[in-house]
Amino acid sequence: MNNQTLVENLRCIPDWPIKGVNFRDVTTLFKNAECIKIISDMMYNLYKDKGITKIVGIESRGFVMSSAAAIRLNAGIVLCRKPGKLPCDTIQQSYAKEYGIDTIEIHKDAISPDDVVLLHDDLLATGGTMKAACDLVRKFNPKRIYCNFIMELNSEFPHTRDIFDKDIEVTSLLKF
Ligand code: PRP
Ligand code: MG
Repeated sequence: MNNQTLVENLRCIPDWPIKGVNFRDVTTLFKNAECIKIISDMMYNLYKDKGITKIVGIESRGFVMSSAAAIRLNAGIVLCRKPGKLPCDTIQQSYAKEYGIDTIEIHKDAISPDDVVLLHDDLLATGGTMKAACDLVRKFNPKRIYCNFIMELNSEFPHTRDIFDKDIEVTSLLKF
């Protein structure tokens, strides 16, 4: 069952960015101290026994709770960024979006084979972004990969979880 405080504080904006989309605006959770605490507690409880050494935050809304969770889990943070933002050598992954191709990248020396990696983002919709991030992290050959979201849009995108490799455990804190 969804956490009631989170649900009550999540702002929904009808018909944004286009007609027919009910946009769930995570910034109203980020600005609320109690919600930040709830999200960080939930992430801590899910991953405290998994031996996470690196949290990969997905630009940009994935950065926020990655840092809170990293402090709780005693893990480092790796930035998974849109192209051209990282200053040193990177490894990239391209993926298809609704219109055209997008690319994300991570510094080449950011993850090592002895890492246990938790990828985090705010939202799982089509899964295109996180699938590309998982494929990118896989290139570093880490010990294990986990994926976490603040929310997933289950009823709109019922088959999204099927796109992830079977050895990747996917969790979300809220399901709509
Ligand atoms: C949104 C959202 C997720 C992704 C989810 O990010 O924050 O990262 O899209 O969609 P998907 O599951 O269909 O890939 P966006 O690209 O809008 O960028 P932002 O986080 O920088 O706002
Ligand atoms: Mg995003």
